[in-house]
Amino acid sequence: MDQEKTPYFQALLDYVDAGVLPFHTPGHIQGVGMDLAFREFVGDNFCAIDLTPMPGIDDLLQPTESIKEAQQLAAAAWGADNTFFLINGSTSGNQCMMMAAVNPGEKIAVPRNSHKSMLGGLVMSGAEPVYMRPEVDAELRMDHCVTPETVAATLREHPEVVAVYLVSPTYYGVAADLETIERTVHEAGKLLLVDEAWGPHFHFHAALPISATAAGADLSINSTHKMLSAFSQCAMLHQKGPRVRLDRLKAVLKMFLSTSPNLPMVASLDVARKQMATEGAALLSRTIELAEQTRSRLNTIPGLYCFGEELQGRAGIFDLDPTKITVTVKGLGYTGYEASEILRRRYNIQVELADLFNVVALFTIGTTREAAQRLVEAFEELARGERDLDMFAPSGILEQRLKRGTFHLPAVPPMRMRPREAFLADTELVKFRESRGRICAETITPYPPGIPVIAPGEELTADIIDYLRLELKAGVRIQGPYDDKLRTIRVVKE
Ligand SMILES: Cc1ncc(COP(=O)(O)O)c(C=O)c1O
Repeated sequence: MDQEKTPYFQALLDYVDAGVLPFHTPGHIQGVGMDLAFREFVGDNFCAIDLTPMPGIDDLLQPTESIKEAQQLAAAAWGADNTFFLINGSTSGNQCMMMAAVNPGEKIAVPRNSHKSMLGGLVMSGAEPVYMRPEVDAELRMDHCVTPETVAATLREHPEVVAVYLVSPTYYGVAADLETIERTVHEAGKLLLVDEAWGPHFHFHAALPISATAAGADLSINSTHKMLSAFSQCAMLHQKGPRVRLDRLKAVLKMFLSTSPNLPMVASLDVARKQMATEGAALLSRTIELAEQTRSRLNTIPGLYCFGEELQGRAGIFDLDPTKITVTVKGLGYTGYEASEILRRRYNIQVELADLFNVVALFTIGTTREAAQRLVEAFEELARGERDLDMFAPSGILEQRLKRGTFHLPAVPPMRMRPREAFLADTELVKFRESRGRICAETITPYPPGIPVIAPGEELTADIIDYLRLELKAGVRIQGPYDDKLRTIRVVKE
């Protein structure tokens, strides 16, 4: 296939060139009816290709022309049998994978450190999760991947599981041993679904972890917007092999997709595929080199640590994406949240993620040498600065809690109802402090990284309540609950 072609983008350009008189949505009519200041900012060209599905432009829900060809080109580029464009991110990808692969009441093995959209998939599909424990790194205070041994043990203990769902890579760029897991899962006759939201670039460079499609996952998702050049919200769902029912998958996609997709977004997927297929290796080589250099420079700054190859091979760290730089700032006496805020306020630098110990800087094909230089300089200055209060000093609140062992990641609470049942049950609001023992009806997720601490149907334990209150104190944003300050929480009525 000719990967230089961008059939869908071309179809939009052809429509504009033809000078068609538009009597169709969107109502701004190629920008003419749009607020001028906004139109001038976003540009006439963008407005001109913001059109609607029609003959000659094809329909994302029922592709027969240029979108069909664009998706076939993407499938060839990623080594999939079929690829589907998504316009509501990997969030919808997770929901579609679950809806396509599992039925109400069926069991699916999932890592506990999944993105909250996986839980959305559970609520929608009515499937029951069997949680797999990811490997926990107490030093860096983060969860890594699930090991092949954990997957094998889960399948032995729960032979009724119909599918195994994995997150690889993690938000921090740690990848699982997908090939070994694929063999285990398929030998057991189960489906393998992979949330590869953070790894759309893996397939295009030998120095990156193996991609989910290359490893043989039945279904996998990529947030093309996260690490490649597509517009925000743009993602892809790849299908491979004979195990997933294609008719059902297509029916699910039709249910989840808007009938009025944003066409510049769809075109950006077509173009991002061309870019990767034709120049991906070169662009990624440059990115990887810049990220490796920056990681080495940051590691020379006293008090900072950016993990890398030295951790590869530890449990749950089969491989690493070098383009993610996790800067552990604990040694400077800052929490990741504080460091992130200082980077923004003092140096006008915004990182992707902050957690208690770390900040994560993404290096992508759009990251420049100048930007990398400024990041290093900012950290050098940050490390020289005087601290008024060291959050991790022996007398600091966090260090005391960490020492007493009362600030660990909470244990997975008992599941008292299926996520769907709890989500749809009669609920009431109760004081969060007094919610111990109640069944949670919402998903509570410190964001980023977006990994739920408690899911609908699970019991609110003292551990969970204590942990979330500390996260709030440390300045983390909590997503999911009705009351985002978490003074109250929605629980199942008893
Ligand atoms: C592992 C993982 N899966 C899925 C998603 C959702 O992706 P999107 O933002 O493209 O909807 C995220 C978002 O951060 C994520 O980290």
